[in-house]
Amino acid sequence: MAPEVLCTLALPKPFPALVSDAATLRTAGHLMSRDELVSELRERPVDVLCPQLRESVDGIVLDAGGSRLRCVSLFAVGFNNVDVDAATGRGVVVANTPGVLTNATADCAMGLMLAAARNLCEGDREVRAGRFAGWEPEYLLGQDVSGALLGVIGFGRIGQAVARRALGFSMRVVYFDSTDPPVAEDLQGRVSPTPLDTLLREADVITLHTPLTEETHHLIDEPALRTMKDSAILVNTSRGPVIDEATLARALREGWIAGAGLDVYENEPELAPGLTECANVVLSPHLGSATIKTRAAMAELCALNALDALAGQTPRHCVNPEAWARGAPPPLIHAAT
Ligand code: GLV
Repeated sequence: MAPEVLCTLALPKPFPALVSDAATLRTAGHLMSRDELVSELRERPVDVLCPQLRESVDGIVLDAGGSRLRCVSLFAVGFNNVDVDAATGRGVVVANTPGVLTNATADCAMGLMLAAARNLCEGDREVRAGRFAGWEPEYLLGQDVSGALLGVIGFGRIGQAVARRALGFSMRVVYFDSTDPPVAEDLQGRVSPTPLDTLLREADVITLHTPLTEETHHLIDEPALRTMKDSAILVNTSRGPVIDEATLARALREGWIAGAGLDVYENEPELAPGLTECANVVLSPHLGSATIKTRAAMAELCALNALDALAGQTPRHCVNPEAWARGAPPPLIHAAT
């Protein structure tokens, strides 16, 4: 029986060619609800499932995959949409695409930061609406980024890439991360760890780069927003539910903080009521990793993870290698390089 891989949405090059060389690739061509995934996996079992970050893969979906499903290979670095414990318990490895989207996501965070601090999107709306009447001494004044204190929450690869860029903009950088991650050599001595409360109280710009977990769900809630300076700018390119979005809309409307730049939302693609009416928020549609080169690199990693699993090897980027602690399933193909 030829190994089979199921993608819900079609993935970019080189994914199709890499996978089709070794296995039968089936692409649904649309996002699947949990019920659809369950019936699809029951009717046509596969060895590897490649879902989208908007599709939830829980114990029921994994059970539908039965004993044939060995790997969930994500086209994303975030894996909050998969119940990893349930996967581990069923001997299913979960793989993701870290590293290759670090720079693209950090660039996006900087873009949102600059756009929000300098009213660039509001200015764009003014010009298009014909309201730009020429340069004026106090027209659309924003916040200085250079010299400002940046607070990075979540200091992994992406948080550190943002810190590096911010130093290039002459910002001062502090960070908070509950896991005490190693700090890259080039950043040592140039950034300092800070308790969360101090960061919230003192930072001029706060940028979120934490995974979504039970611990970080609504990390930015009403008390956090009320702790921030009324001149602060909040940027989120991580996961929407890290912020209590309805409360953020209130904070922006009532001026508890000065502005925000958001790429992710609590209930994508829905937005909290009132958010789009706030002139002081820049809204982008989850574009963090959306460059041609980055998406191709993610597609390649996603394929290689799937091929590793089909070859009976722990995927090169596996979030739960312990799933195969008692032995990997037998190889179905030769190992990919
Ligand atoms: C995108 O949001 C990702 O997690 O890769």
